[in-house]
Amino acid sequence: MQKVHLVSGGCGFVGRNMVKRLFRKTQDRIVFIDDLSVGTHPSNWLDAPQGRSIGNATFFGSDERLLFIQDDFRNVLRGLHDAPGFFAPLGWEVDKLSDVFHFAAIVGGRAKIDGDPMMVALDLSIDAEFFYWICRHKPARVLYPSSSAAYPIDLQTESDAIALSEKDINFDRMGKPDMTYGWSKLTGEYLAQISAQYYGVKVTCIRPFSGYGEDQDLSYPIPAIAARAARREDPFEVWGSGNQGRDFVHIDDVLDCVEVAMDTIHDGSAINIGMGRLSSFREIIEIFCRLAGYQPTIKPLLDKPVGVHSRYCNMDYVKEKLGWEAKISLEEGLRRVYNEAIKRL
Ligand SMILES: NC(=O)c1ccc[n+]([C@@H]2O[C@H](COP(=O)([O-])OP(=O)(O)OC[C@H]3O[C@@H](n4cnc5c(N)ncnc54)[C@H](O)[C@@H]3O)[C@@H](O)[C@H]2O)c1
Repeated sequence: MQKVHLVSGGCGFVGRNMVKRLFRKTQDRIVFIDDLSVGTHPSNWLDAPQGRSIGNATFFGSDERLLFIQDDFRNVLRGLHDAPGFFAPLGWEVDKLSDVFHFAAIVGGRAKIDGDPMMVALDLSIDAEFFYWICRHKPARVLYPSSSAAYPIDLQTESDAIALSEKDINFDRMGKPDMTYGWSKLTGEYLAQISAQYYGVKVTCIRPFSGYGEDQDLSYPIPAIAARAARREDPFEVWGSGNQGRDFVHIDDVLDCVEVAMDTIHDGSAINIGMGRLSSFREIIEIFCRLAGYQPTIKPLLDKPVGVHSRYCNMDYVKEKLGWEAKISLEEGLRRVYNEAIKRL
């Protein structure tokens, strides 16, 4: 029987890149769910013809290998839980789902994390229902995206920042994560371990650092800075002093690493995904402005939220355990984003 994979949040940044990749690299069926609260309708980004619709479900691709369900993922989870023949009215026979990727979440960048923390806390509700369901359904493999925001913030200050290693999250001695977003991810990681240990589900957790890509929403720094450089903004505004830094990693590298990690890690434990390189926002502006061929004056916006000072990772464990490292250099990745920004101008 043809395999069926499920991608929640499949119209968001990471989710749609995963849907496109699965469609391109496999002959399997893919069901993806998104309430489009943030995500973009697949007709805008999927290179496959739109087919028939039944209720809130729409097929894509000439062979109807892709199925988009527009709904709150929690409703779908309840449907899947109540009715094992959930897909039957859509003409699909599905006994067990294969790979399940759970990207549905309220994320939204720094402005949302600091500006509406209780809305972000709703991730706890989405994740709790998700883990409850996987422990009943037991899909072949599960990917849970945690985040670098789960790391203790006292390891990311201006004076004490370190390259964060997987062991810096220790459930026996917890540090304070980054706002409700970090708390929900820590809780998710804990539930992932419970799912593996008590219910025998194969779960892999990842902690991506700052993922970016050509098609990312402009509420995120990399595409926003690229767009402003393409317009040759001068003075060039930066949130905070601009000396705060992150570990930027291209989405293609993130998804490459996911593939390797899911083949190797099944006990719910988490790995970092980053470049292991700290880059300040001023450096990012400099690279983009070099690509645009000008040197603006930098204008710090000190009233804007900036989060922790320095967040970057140590990739030694991933190199040793998975033999994996990122392939797309920061300069190459930013060039791709810049070229896209120029096209959009
Ligand atoms: N992008 C990164 O660099 C990064 C880094 C660390 C972790 N992550 C994690 O990866 C996951 C995806 O992140 P993203 O950057 O793609 O975010 P995103 O906001 O682009 O995508 C999330 C998607 O989930 C959808 N959604 C939200 N609530 C939903 C619900 N109740 N039901 C159905 N759909 C819902 C949104 O419409 C959106 O399309 C998140 O869990 C995020 O925490 C991402």
